[in-house]
Amino acid sequence: MKLALSFVFALFFLVSSVPVFAAPATVLPKGYLSWKKSERKVDTDKSSIFYGIHYIYADKTAMKGYQAGNRFADGSRIVVEYFNIKGNPAVDGPKNMVVLMRKDKRFKQTGGWQFAGFGADGKPSGLDPVTTCFDCHLKDAAQRDYVISTKKDFK
Ligand code: HEC
Repeated sequence: MKLALSFVFALFFLVSSVPVFAAPATVLPKGYLSWKKSERKVDTDKSSIFYGIHYIYADKTAMKGYQAGNRFADGSRIVVEYFNIKGNPAVDGPKNMVVLMRKDKRFKQTGGWQFAGFGADGKPSGLDPVTTCFDCHLKDAAQRDYVISTKKDFK
């Protein structure tokens, strides 16, 4: 009996010491509209996948990362809101997409960042973080902690 019990304990410690990484739920952080906001960015090239208007929002930790020349501490969060273009000159149309990057070293496959895409309603859009998001950020900003924008965007 004693032996069986210690076996159970040993098993328990064995199992509980294995690091299990459960990815945090992909939810948009509340209140990001009050974070530091970038200048208004307009891309009128209809052949570009970025055709539209967007604004980047960075929390305090992320702003420190931008100031340090794109070296971001764990917990940094950056959100981008995309809008359609209405008319000429371009006026902000309806929102069409929101994307999030959150620095979390457990996301090894995507450079230590959690990448997540959302619809205008804030619901996860199910875009693949590795093939859809990270590949492009890796190509454009491997030397800048995978963050493409820089502090210049927040003047
Ligand atoms: C085809 C390339 C491409 C793909 C795919 C892409 N991005 Fe980006 N992303 C960019 C570019 C370029 C910028 C910079 C925009 C700017 O400077 O205004 C950017 C900016 C961002 C930013 C602001 C921080 C930064 O890096 O400047 C976040 C957050 C972001 N993207 C998340 C995502 C997520 C999440 C996905 C997948 C759903 C995604 N991106 C897919 C090219 C891409």
